Amino acid sequence: ALTVNAGERGAAFSDTMHGVFFEDINYAADGGLYAEMVQNRSFEHRAPLYAWSVSDDSITLEVAATKGLHKNNPAYARVRVPESAESGAIVNDGFDGFAVQAGERYLAALHVRSDQPGAEVSVVLRDGEGAEIARAVLGEASSDWRRFEGELTAEQSAGDAKLSVEFGGPGAYDLDMVSLFPADTFRGRRNGLRKDLAEKLEGLKPAFVRFPGGCIVEGRTLDNAYRWKDTVGPVWQRKQNDNLWASRENPQYHQTYGLGFFEYFQFCEDIGAEAVPIVNCGMGCQFRGRDVVPMDELGPWVQDALDLVEFANGPIDSKWGKLRADMGHPEPFNLKLLGVGNEQWMEGYFERYLVFYHALKQRYPDLQVVSTSGPQANDDYYHYAWKRFQSDVKADVVDEHYYRSPQWFLSNHERYDGYDRTAPKVFAGEFAAHEPDRASTLRAAVAEAAFMTGLWRNADVVTMASYAPLFAREGAVQWAPDLIWFDNTRSYGTPSYHVQAMYGQNVPDVVLPVTVEAGSAPQPQLRGRIGVGTWETAAEFKDIKVTRGDEVLYESSGDLEEWEQHGGDWTVEDGVLRQTSQATNVRAFVGSEDWTDYTLTLKARKLRGREGFLV
Ligand code: AHR
Repeated sequence: ALTVNAGERGAAFSDTMHGVFFEDINYAADGGLYAEMVQNRSFEHRAPLYAWSVSDDSITLEVAATKGLHKNNPAYARVRVPESAESGAIVNDGFDGFAVQAGERYLAALHVRSDQPGAEVSVVLRDGEGAEIARAVLGEASSDWRRFEGELTAEQSAGDAKLSVEFGGPGAYDLDMVSLFPADTFRGRRNGLRKDLAEKLEGLKPAFVRFPGGCIVEGRTLDNAYRWKDTVGPVWQRKQNDNLWASRENPQYHQTYGLGFFEYFQFCEDIGAEAVPIVNCGMGCQFRGRDVVPMDELGPWVQDALDLVEFANGPIDSKWGKLRADMGHPEPFNLKLLGVGNEQWMEGYFERYLVFYHALKQRYPDLQVVSTSGPQANDDYYHYAWKRFQSDVKADVVDEHYYRSPQWFLSNHERYDGYDRTAPKVFAGEFAAHEPDRASTLRAAVAEAAFMTGLWRNADVVTMASYAPLFAREGAVQWAPDLIWFDNTRSYGTPSYHVQAMYGQNVPDVVLPVTVEAGSAPQPQLRGRIGVGTWETAAEFKDIKVTRGDEVLYESSGDLEEWEQHGGDWTVEDGVLRQTSQATNVRAFVGSEDWTDYTLTLKARKLRGREGFLV
């Protein structure tokens, strides 16, 4: 029987409970939400000509950087059309081709200069067979850099079109920032967002958008860290960056920053969501470089955070408020929340975090500061973190992440029932139920939904929650599962998307106490952790036995499917759980929440590193 106690007043519900977490992973930004259709438009990346080719072998294409467009964007393409040719072109492949729709309008732009002033420059969309679909004559090149814009209307649809930039006579042409957007972007914005993907996000009714990540904030090492100032101002003056999610399969993946902090704030405003930007706290990624900014050199990083608040909220006669106004938004964005760091689960975080916290609070007392590491943010870090939070560390909100099995989500819906009500509020900033093969299943979605009932029940302390990651481009995936999948023309939500939508679209004002009487109580689940510690390199576990007194509660018996694995790659073969690559947070889960009465015997064959132990 289910009894809703309507007479009792429950916890007031947070008005920021359900939001989204956006990170440029799986081509979520370039090639994804950011509607730019040209891949590698500005030739800055370490393979500067990828996605480009010449129309015929007489044309030469190389990269140059003499008197480039801007110090942040120095490289450009130099195209030579020989005397023997009447014209020539270079061709962009787009992201797996250009998908164009008959009758739709597309907006082209580029910067060009030439040693043949007066030569005509055009952009042409051609289908996979080379037949012309749309053309725009942009104008006549001059000997100085000049930006041209033009509009093309597709005469037919094609999924595999390419974009040619055509030059009307022999000569040398310098070319940069070659761009093509659909005219029909979300809210019709220039430099805008792909409509179907932005609408999918809007459909979740998110109360906030956390951006720009994720590990990407930290950077592989600090020189690859996300610095918001590189992402604002005119697009052609933004300083691009490698993407830490570039992989062997997608080595050219990088961040153009066309979708930058202004665009993020604007999108939040467009969909009525709070912006929750995350800044780097002076630490590189704990899974990668692990480099840190010395405490006495933290100043510029803290200044970046202060300046970000000024960019979002400052008056238009302030330095950064003026830039916001120059970019077209004189009104403040009303930033209320700011995160300092992401998953900083290593020593050194709190010292740095506190410098940010105090500087931000001193200047902006009403700003809510989110710490990346709280009481339960990471189990290996738990004791250190929690102790510090109970003593001298302050945060308004702490950001917890859990990528765990569906079973874990089902058995952890009570996670916050015993949470210290005086501790900082909780932001479940990244979570997803992971099947062993990382598929998006109904079971995972239902487990997440069950877990979220516990977030609602504890709405007095849990104030924010977001699934992660958000997007995945078919064929360019570094991480699964994800909430929304897409290719150039289609996008669809996974079962987890529909769970998030169900929750986001149906937020209550208040949570009423509910009691459930069930016929028979479910058997307690065994749950717990066996670890070889953090930063170990390899280990094997087998013959695991959990006992209480004489009672054998768990014996591995070769069936390890219910094991939770986190970090690194694991295989289970013949009853042996084997970690096959370097990982952090090496843990396997079995057993119960409360280990005090239990004995665990475990044979852990150490391949390298410490003995296995129970944590
Ligand atoms: O969501 C993918 C990654 O998972 C995020 O970048 C990081 O914060 C977490 O480890």
